[in-house]
Amino acid sequence: MLFDTHAHMDDRAFDTDREQLLSSLPGQGLALVMNPGCSLESSRNAVKLANTYDYIYAAVGSHPDVADEVNEEALEEYRRLVRENPKVKAIGEIGLDYHYEDIPREIQLRAFRMQMELAKELNLPAIVHEREAHDDGMKVVHEFPEVTGVFHCYSGSAEMARQLVDRGWYIGFTGVLTFKNARKAIEVASSIPIERIVLETDCPYMSPDPFRGRRNDPGKIYRMAEKLAEIRGMSVEEIHAITTENGKKLYKI
Ligand code: NI
Repeated sequence: MLFDTHAHMDDRAFDTDREQLLSSLPGQGLALVMNPGCSLESSRNAVKLANTYDYIYAAVGSHPDVADEVNEEALEEYRRLVRENPKVKAIGEIGLDYHYEDIPREIQLRAFRMQMELAKELNLPAIVHEREAHDDGMKVVHEFPEVTGVFHCYSGSAEMARQLVDRGWYIGFTGVLTFKNARKAIEVASSIPIERIVLETDCPYMSPDPFRGRRNDPGKIYRMAEKLAEIRGMSVEEIHAITTENGKKLYKI
């Protein structure tokens, strides 16, 4: 049984068949799904899904793409969602994305720090999206030694991954692991302790091979498990058991 530790089932890509797809997942070997929020609105929808399906859990937070919506009022709503819904298990996804600079870096950094502070206050793990912002990402991690969580869709170096692991963080791998040019991700996945690795689809994006270019969904996470088993020289069953356990520890489920 597998744990998809990062799936956006509230995304509009699933509007036509969400219920059908979600009902089919337990039959496809999925034990658990974490649905992080990307904005205030998406966080509310993630909580609704978690309250509808036993095996779905939620996180609340604003993605760097909407960092300008993060203010005291937004934090108060996230606080309330956490307080009123025991299935909210993390703050995320939050972080930094310097690939697109539609939102200025200072605003992204401010929103990231405010939400890390919230994770600290509520004693919850953080789900961090960090793209082309390795130095600033690590700087903020060092500012909040009390907060751990997961660097999802990990794109940093093996050295940075080791630093995160030493500080108690988990590293999340997507379908990128299955791509032909995945040398860097494979290097990281082969070098850090297996107890710190979690698997995710990041659906509807990041479909693994051989589904690239098509809509992704949690039912495709078995491909990441197959690839990780190959990289680590372990059986698929061992990978299923270990990564599911890791995900449960990460989110305290
Ligand atoms: Ni995501």
